[in-house]
Amino acid sequence: MPKKLFIETLGCAMNVRDSEHMIAELNAHEGYELTDDASSADLILINTCSVREKPVHKLFSELGVFNKLKKADAKIGVCGCTASHLGKEIIKRAPYVNFVLGARNVSKIADVLHRDRAVEIEIDYDESEFAFKDFRSSPYKAYINISIGCDKQCTFCIVPKTRGDEISIPADLIIAETRKAVENGAKEVFLLGQNVNNYGRRFSGENEKMNFTELLRRVSAVEGLERIRFTSPHPLHMDDEFIEEFARNPKICKSMHMPLQSGSSEILKAMKRGYTKEWFLNRARKLRELVPDVSISTDIIVAFPGESDEDFEDTMDVLNQVRFEQLFSFKYSPRPLTEAEKMEEVDSEVGSERLNRLQARHDEILDEMKSVNLGKVVEVYFEELRESGHVAGRSDNNLSVKVKGSEEWLGKIAQVKITEVSRNVQYGEIIA
Ligand code: 5AD
Ligand code: SF4
Repeated sequence: MPKKLFIETLGCAMNVRDSEHMIAELNAHEGYELTDDASSADLILINTCSVREKPVHKLFSELGVFNKLKKADAKIGVCGCTASHLGKEIIKRAPYVNFVLGARNVSKIADVLHRDRAVEIEIDYDESEFAFKDFRSSPYKAYINISIGCDKQCTFCIVPKTRGDEISIPADLIIAETRKAVENGAKEVFLLGQNVNNYGRRFSGENEKMNFTELLRRVSAVEGLERIRFTSPHPLHMDDEFIEEFARNPKICKSMHMPLQSGSSEILKAMKRGYTKEWFLNRARKLRELVPDVSISTDIIVAFPGESDEDFEDTMDVLNQVRFEQLFSFKYSPRPLTEAEKMEEVDSEVGSERLNRLQARHDEILDEMKSVNLGKVVEVYFEELRESGHVAGRSDNNLSVKVKGSEEWLGKIAQVKITEVSRNVQYGEIIA
């Protein structure tokens, strides 16, 4: 009987890829196979996120649950960003945890497994050229890391302390992975990094000079590849060359994530984001001018320390001007090891009210915009079967689209006419 691995992945796309790497390494070196039933697993892994406080609290209650339901001799490992940040504290608070593996130590998974109570959380460990074994949870879309770590110093963010300094992965490794994914049937790659358009600032070895725009050109030259997505770019590094390549290159999906964080130039300064409200608006305007169909998503934090009513109105103003197609919004959560942790917090009720107002206005905007899609023909890449005889996928500009159909459409790209629209999903008919 092969050993069974249960893995729970929290947090961002980077964590999803780290989990795939751990699954592949454990399969190749230790013979583990995946299960979705934790009670029958020989190894339970939680790949954690530490970006806000809530998921960290959740970790310890979840660990308790896993400890009760697991087989007597099963092991539990805690991986990811909270592993990096809490380290051996995790074993102190939950002594049944067998090992702790930080977000930048993924390649050590098969080794750490055999060292009881091991804590591997070095944040300057360099995995940028490690040849991971391969596993992909979707045959249609391939996540590909282009850098590890993050060099920014945003004062709210714990990530540079959990994932360390930024190192770019050599372009030839990225191209080789893209080729392999395409050979295995993927039409779409999703390039991943904490700050993708900072690509090329630092490699660990000798490397040809290259920026993100050039990397996009190289990746798009891979034959058989049809779509490129990436996350997350930083608004500060959205220079004209990058936006123009985004607009011009037919393989780049017309969906851009532009994490605003705040619309107030004062707060942006306190956050050390490096841009102003005007710069952000200017970049969004240029994008909408060059790519009329573009869909722009954003991240916004409300109630950062020192945020006044006027500052918040600036955020509402940017929301009203840019009219984002998708919003991820959060109330500020103080994080250890960050500069903002020591700053005086905004009253929690005020923060909740601001978050509600922001989300309510965004919903109104979505309702105002949704009818624009009705009757449009969009190109959809089908990736998932849904209940009630639907097959689902995303349009080039990231609309979630469902049509009546079966598995014959999986992995195919088709022209779809939108016949029904709502805030988050559209229904349509395949026309070609
Ligand atoms: N509090 C609230 N939200 C945060 N984010 C990052 N750090 C914090 C924090 N301390 C949000 C940012 C980031 C997204 C991934 O999480 O908006 O872009
Ligand atoms: Fe969470 Fe950030 Fe770590 Fe991703 S990089 S898992 S969002 S803390």
